[in-house]
Amino acid sequence: MATGEIISGFLAPHPPHMLYAENPPQNEPRSNGGWEQLRWAYERARASVEALKPDVLLVHSPHWITSVGHHFIGVPELSGRSVDPIFPNLFRFDYSMKIDVDLAEACYEEGRNVGLETKMMRNPRFRVDYGTITTLHMIRPQWDIPVVSISANNTPYYLSMEEGLTEMDLLGKATLEAVRKSGKRAVLLASNTLSHWHFNQEPEPPEDMTKEHPESLAGYQWDMRMIDLMRRGQMQEVFRLLPQFIEESFAEVKSGAFTWMHAAMQYPELAAELHGYGTVIGTGNAVMEWNLVKAGLARSAAAAR
Ligand SMILES: [Fe+2]
Repeated sequence: MATGEIISGFLAPHPPHMLYAENPPQNEPRSNGGWEQLRWAYERARASVEALKPDVLLVHSPHWITSVGHHFIGVPELSGRSVDPIFPNLFRFDYSMKIDVDLAEACYEEGRNVGLETKMMRNPRFRVDYGTITTLHMIRPQWDIPVVSISANNTPYYLSMEEGLTEMDLLGKATLEAVRKSGKRAVLLASNTLSHWHFNQEPEPPEDMTKEHPESLAGYQWDMRMIDLMRRGQMQEVFRLLPQFIEESFAEVKSGAFTWMHAAMQYPELAAELHGYGTVIGTGNAVMEWNLVKAGLARSAAAAR
């Protein structure tokens, strides 16, 4: 069996408004569109996933919170209804997903090997969080690629930021080891918003785009500064600034997915492709990709077969 590898990583945020605006049949509420810039950004990301033909998608979401350790879904097939507790008016989604339990178990084992507290989630009636679902649906609405779903231990919130992000670095390294041994070609999804200052009032209707704009000038300017560094491939500088960015823009990358993903990719000093940027209730969201095949750091789909 060929050595498995990570072929691409996406910053893939999860405001449920985007999914609501797409009107997929699985979501009960109906909309009149909205947030097109971000939805079209996801269209570009989808085309990239289609070309990459990954065997598995790994997603880390801040909204599956596990206070003790890093958890992995260990049930082969899960279905049910997921409701966003903040926006139940926008997101009541009937999901059905296949889990790559073998790879999830390998991530669990490798996580243990690097000293992390890890656990397999075996409850067949477990309800998947809206962050995981929105990211997965926006990147691959066909739901035809098996998934590894990873919880947020949120250590950067409970410990110091440095300690917490160091754990996410270890989780990334463990993930890479598991993917390598699996022989599979994997795409990583960091389900994170950038600046996270948001409105306290929802417009009526919610998709009224005349009301959509950045909540905070400082947050917007931080987003542009960080995105520009990512576009230029200055990732060491991005990670040097990350704690200050998180502190000053209330950035959701604090929950660790972004650090996990780049650690798993071995922090490539690689220019990201910006698929698009937009605000959702004032928060800053970018869909961005570090494509390791295009960069010559991973095999193409054709070469892998
Ligand atoms: Fe979120």
